Amino acid sequence: MGREMEHTGLDFPKLIVFEVTNRCNLRCRMCAQSVRDFKYADMPFEIFEKMAPALEHARDVSLFGWGEPLLHRRFLDMFDFVSQYPPDIFVLTNGMLLDEQIGEHFIEKRLRYLNFSMDAPVPELYNHIRRGGDFHRVVGNIRRFREQCESGGYCPYMRTVAVLMRSNIELFPDFVRLSAELGMDEVKGVHLIVYDPSFIKESLYFHQELTNRIIDESLEVGEKLGIKVNLPDKFGTGHPPSGHKYCHRPWEEFYIQADGRVRACVFSHEIMGDLRTQSFEEIWHGEPFQERRRTVNSATPPAECARCCHYRHMDVDNLAAYLRLDDPVPNTRQADKWRKSKEAERTTVFAVDLAQIKKEYGLELEGVH
Ligand SMILES: C[S@@+](CC[C@H](N)C(=O)[O-])C[C@H]1O[C@@H](n2cnc3c(N)ncnc32)[C@H](O)[C@@H]1O
Ligand code: SF4
Ligand code: SF4
Repeated sequence: MGREMEHTGLDFPKLIVFEVTNRCNLRCRMCAQSVRDFKYADMPFEIFEKMAPALEHARDVSLFGWGEPLLHRRFLDMFDFVSQYPPDIFVLTNGMLLDEQIGEHFIEKRLRYLNFSMDAPVPELYNHIRRGGDFHRVVGNIRRFREQCESGGYCPYMRTVAVLMRSNIELFPDFVRLSAELGMDEVKGVHLIVYDPSFIKESLYFHQELTNRIIDESLEVGEKLGIKVNLPDKFGTGHPPSGHKYCHRPWEEFYIQADGRVRACVFSHEIMGDLRTQSFEEIWHGEPFQERRRTVNSATPPAECARCCHYRHMDVDNLAAYLRLDDPVPNTRQADKWRKSKEAERTTVFAVDLAQIKKEYGLELEGVH
């Protein structure tokens, strides 16, 4: 993208995210759903219709956010509507509600990417982490869907995903084995983001040697079984410097919350407009988006951008990257309060006092330099 586009924006976003619902049928222990006060909403179908002009031009559409997309009563209508347009569609689900009918639609309408969040390869740990979930049911749903794919002659690109933490990291090589056996194209691990102090000891930042060893072992297992293993960088192996990187998202992404309000990107809390009362064009070319484009890569970026270390690449050696203890999480009651006080935070630098955290939580840091 040329610099001349900086303040004007592109005609259309490349990625449109529809947070179909922010309600969930599970309460996974590490998830913000368990520790934040969400303002629950189901996206009205009209939001999809309003996005038709942008859907003609986008490249990708995601149908998930905070919540379980398959829980929406009209999920299939939404999926069918979006699938009339050119973008590739991406669904991430906990898999509990994937039934034969949904499977048929995914195959018939050529869903491009299907991700299953699973976190563990065995029932006891899965059911412990994914509270309210049922390991056998999810595995059964995936196996049935694979059979449907085989008889339908089409299968989306499929991934399993695990949030990597102390309680499941040692089972990750088995998670790779299970994923291969379930016919996945890829198995992915993402670092735990800590939303609540009770989870801080689960962060692998405090278990670096163990994590590095498991990463090596898992990559080996994946290679043997012919499945792609997608894991974060090992600790201490060189990485991009921490801090703000040039960010393209406000020119590329349009994130629609379940309530119809629009944010600049998935990590942003700030509201750019409201699709219940405005058109796509009004929001995309409106002042809040333009202001974000003017400031995101400036010397005084918005506070949330100054703090954001997720853009493109997570810096695994920066403890700050794992901690969101005070993060209000968008579309929660805490976020409304935060927005009112955001000016005070405008120049916040994204850094964490390791000694303070250590003292506060009584941590022994294994393998931390
Ligand atoms: C919030 S969920 C929404 C979609 C769906 N409910 C699911 O579980 O796949 C999106 C992804 O965030 C992951 N996730 C939840 N809590 C997390 C945390 N504390 N740190 C990192 N990822 C987390 C989930 O495991 C899932 O892969
Ligand atoms: S299923 Fe997804 S949204 Fe629901 S609690 Fe678990 S991780 Fe969070
Ligand atoms: S810096 Fe982060 S929060 Fe700001 S627009 Fe980019 S991705 Fe979003």
